[in-house]
Amino acid sequence: MLGGMAPRVLVVDKAAGARDAIAELLGEHASEVVASARDAAIGELRAAHAAGTPFDVVLLDGEPVPTTSLVRELAAAGGGARVLVIASSSDAIAQVVRCGASDVVTRPLQAAELVFRIGRAVPESGGAGRRPRKSDVIIGAGTWIKDLYDRIAMVAATDVTVAIFGESGTGKELVARTIHNSSPRHDAPFVVVNCAAIPEQLLEDELFGHVRGAFTDATRDREGLVAAAHTGTLFLDEIGELPLPLQAKLLRVLQSQEFRRIGDDQDRRVDVRIITATNRDLDQLVARGSFRQDLYYRINVFPMHLPPLRDRPDDIVLLVHHFVQKYRARLGKPVEGVTPAALARLAAYDFPGNIRELENKIHQAMVIAGGSQIDEDDLALPAPGPNARGRVDVTRPFREVKQETIDAFESAYLTELLRVHKGNLAQAARAAGMDRKNLWALAVRHGLDRARFKKP
Ligand SMILES: Nc1ncnc2c1ncn2[C@@H]1O[C@H](COP(=O)(O)OP(=O)(O)O)[C@@H](O)[C@H]1O
Ligand SMILES: [Mg+2]
Repeated sequence: MLGGMAPRVLVVDKAAGARDAIAELLGEHASEVVASARDAAIGELRAAHAAGTPFDVVLLDGEPVPTTSLVRELAAAGGGARVLVIASSSDAIAQVVRCGASDVVTRPLQAAELVFRIGRAVPESGGAGRRPRKSDVIIGAGTWIKDLYDRIAMVAATDVTVAIFGESGTGKELVARTIHNSSPRHDAPFVVVNCAAIPEQLLEDELFGHVRGAFTDATRDREGLVAAAHTGTLFLDEIGELPLPLQAKLLRVLQSQEFRRIGDDQDRRVDVRIITATNRDLDQLVARGSFRQDLYYRINVFPMHLPPLRDRPDDIVLLVHHFVQKYRARLGKPVEGVTPAALARLAAYDFPGNIRELENKIHQAMVIAGGSQIDEDDLALPAPGPNARGRVDVTRPFREVKQETIDAFESAYLTELLRVHKGNLAQAARAAGMDRKNLWALAVRHGLDRARFKKP
């Protein structure tokens, strides 16, 4: 144990041999391991607490998934015991996290991981409080943002690994930072590593550090960023770009909180909470062999998906207002908002760079803006309409841009066609010279609902 007394652990698991197996795995890292059935656990915890020998940790079988109230009652009965839930698969983890457990362990149980998680669950005397901290606001409208905040709150209290998916500029880093700031680790560092920005050899050194003499330029020891994030949160951005050899090293950190500096002959231990982000489809990378399946399981414990801005146009007004406020103070310019024409232009644009692009556009417009309102002409946006010639984006692959252009055309054509024919498929198909079934399939693919075009 790192300082303090070895904890007393109550194992609540229906499997007969569970207690012995866990006692064996924990060894000297637990001062006592006791077993209890689920329905006897609260009594057991109360009794031990009353006797002045409280349990510090409850290891609760995650099958069936415990309710929030059970977890709460167990914690209270033990006089503030930490409840760790054992999930049987990574699929079960997301469910288990919802029940309010302080951490989750997956089967098969591994000694190093179990020792680490239990050690971490036991607060040092006078341990840090859990006050949430003010952080950057995440702006949004509707149920989407409410769900996001719910999920952030749910996972922030735990040490569970989080994977954030979304296009560039959708707020992945903002969400990761918010999780850290609302977590018990908020006073420790939040360390950001962009796995795509650094070449492989340098990245290994960046992440894991080296010992003096490990290579020609290594004139002194160097701590890597993994060590720098000790007791805090490590945010691995663009995780899909992490080279395979480093994926193996990261897997070790996740499994047993161990890593080795370049040129070292000793392992080091580290206590980090890991959050990853990517705009790539990791399933595809796994299928292609460029991303380890076992690492994918380990990081995909609690996935969060951030939608692109074009899928939530209602957020644009709020975000525009937010960024106008932000840059008004920074630029010292008395801009109040945007004109209706400018807003219409923003709403019609599809923001491939998402919120980052919107923020940049507003920032630029405020630098240019002469009056108190940002006007259409202050925004560097293409005029709306299907024939925005000369505006083709040649920085992206031909196939991608072509597909997008076709999609946009199809969607516009079908919308107008169904509007003109008031949702009458047979008539619309005849007019368009298309097969009725094909027309319907295409409309469905573009999310067009025939009922929408029918006369009220
Ligand atoms: N929902 C949001 N509300 C307010 N600002 C946001 C929101 N989402 C993103 N931003 C801002 O947009 C910019 C890009 O976000 P970032 O988190 O870096 O995106 P990503 O990591 O997905 O590329 C940042 O300045 C961030 O603060
Ligand atoms: Mg980013």
